[in-house]
Amino acid sequence: QAERLLMGARVLLTAGPTREPLDPVRYLGNRSSGRMGYALASALVNLGAQVVLVTGPTVSPLPRVSKVIQVETALEMHRAVMNEVGECAIFVATAAVADYRPMEIATHKIKKDAAELTLHLIRNPDILADVAALKAPPFTVGFAAETENLEQHARAKLTAKKLNMIAANQVGGERGGFEHDENALTVFWRDGQCGLPMMSKTQLARELADLIAEHYRGHHAT
Ligand code: C5P
Repeated sequence: QAERLLMGARVLLTAGPTREPLDPVRYLGNRSSGRMGYALASALVNLGAQVVLVTGPTVSPLPRVSKVIQVETALEMHRAVMNEVGECAIFVATAAVADYRPMEIATHKIKKDAAELTLHLIRNPDILADVAALKAPPFTVGFAAETENLEQHARAKLTAKKLNMIAANQVGGERGGFEHDENALTVFWRDGQCGLPMMSKTQLARELADLIAEHYRGHHAT
């Protein structure tokens, strides 16, 4: 049996997309399947962690974790995370949170009378940044999907959001990312980095969970 590096540690993890309603029948969403987040949740459970999962709507089978909170919007995800985070030693943000939401939700179905329609959107809170800015933040791990200058953008986010680690992947290529079974990541922390080459999301999740556990423990030893 592998070493249970996270025995008893409580981990809060967000996964999946958010849905931002426009009217009673429509929403703004994204292509996140939740699979990478769910695989990571399972891998963390296998290291002995008690995982609380806050997830947007997906069709992927839910992982076996201590607690699942299902949400739809970024605001609901933000609220759920803020309610749970006080009890948690590690926060992992894998969710693809909508950056903006419609300013108003129409009470009735929007009609197609006009030739053009303008939507007014308003910024959603950044859940990960808000957690990392807490007075006594947990060990925080973020994700970054980039189409160019991976290292530069990921390191900028690590610093700007005051994270302990960031897992970055190159999107827009032929392999990996949303709606694929495999992915590759480069993980950055303040004074180092580690490349995890293209592999199944399950295997990748195991290797990432090991890295998180190792750095979390190192962080607490100092
Ligand atoms: O800045 P960017 O959206 O690229 O950062 C991505 C990271 O931040 C991911 O870990 C994502 O889960 C998290 N995030 C968040 N709340 C938002 C936007 C992003 O937690 N509103």
